[in-house]
Amino acid sequence: MSKELHIHWYPGHIAKAERQLKEKLNLVDVVIEVRDARIPLSSSYTNIKKLLGEKPRLLLLNKADLVDKEELKTWVKYLKETTKCPVIVTDAKGSKDLALVVKNAVDLAEPKIQALMSKGLLRRPARAMVVGMPNVGKSSVINKLTKSSKTKIGAKAGVTRQQQWVRINPKLDLLDTPGIIPTKQDNQLQAAKLAFVSSVSENAYSPEPVAQALLDILSESKYMAQVADFYKIDKLTLETIAKSRNWILKADSLDTERTAKYILKDFRDGRIGKFILDEIPVNEEAN
Ligand code: G4P
Repeated sequence: MSKELHIHWYPGHIAKAERQLKEKLNLVDVVIEVRDARIPLSSSYTNIKKLLGEKPRLLLLNKADLVDKEELKTWVKYLKETTKCPVIVTDAKGSKDLALVVKNAVDLAEPKIQALMSKGLLRRPARAMVVGMPNVGKSSVINKLTKSSKTKIGAKAGVTRQQQWVRINPKLDLLDTPGIIPTKQDNQLQAAKLAFVSSVSENAYSPEPVAQALLDILSESKYMAQVADFYKIDKLTLETIAKSRNWILKADSLDTERTAKYILKDFRDGRIGKFILDEIPVNEEAN
């Protein structure tokens, strides 16, 4: 492989993103964190607990339509146990509503609302916001939650005019723009996984090493036979797939760039299969 796996991060951008996120977090009672169900750990942020402090958090494993339902149940159990947060599986593109998300958000915020009332304030709706890494489905979740509500209740003190609250029901107001969790990651493998699910900009990497990294993970996984069968090959490399598709450049060399782009697209569209690419850690605490 001529090109090495190298995904480039922008530290300045991370500091700014964290600052913007913190400003928004100050406005809410409860946080709805969206993750990509294909990478339930890699689509979380190492600093999330520190960023949120005591703020209650509801975890959504979104894009559940792209993974195996039974396997996802194991992850839900693991994440519930380790994060101590409620965990809900969602498909923000599907037809099912997100009533369970609304109920859980309201329940999580109730102690805060009760505390305000005990200080003599009138009951008010809980305030929530959606956060998550790029492309995990934050806007889709917001759209789904706000679809049936026409009530834009406008800016509150400290909120810029671009940010509106939408009354989801008498008990819940939602900020209509999401908080973006920066895709800072501690290692290249996590970065590659974020690239597989389009959470990292395509400008940050070349497709060949990223697609090969995907093939390497799949080769060592229980999904190997399924992938080999999909591409009708024995060994999962860009070269074997390029040959099997007859993607050859003029000078008789294999068109590995085209192959890499196709593999990534096949994966992203869920065509190869329904895969979860993270593994449940044996002795580690989840974010
Ligand atoms: P973001 O705000 O977190 O950046 O994500 P956004 O909602 O924009 O969603 C990113 C992409 O993921 C969109 O696809 C969206 O349709 C898709 N998506 C969101 N939730 C789900 C889900 O639960 N399952 C599946 N399969 N896809 C989901 P896109 O290609 O950018 O646009 P389009 O497909 O809507 O045209």
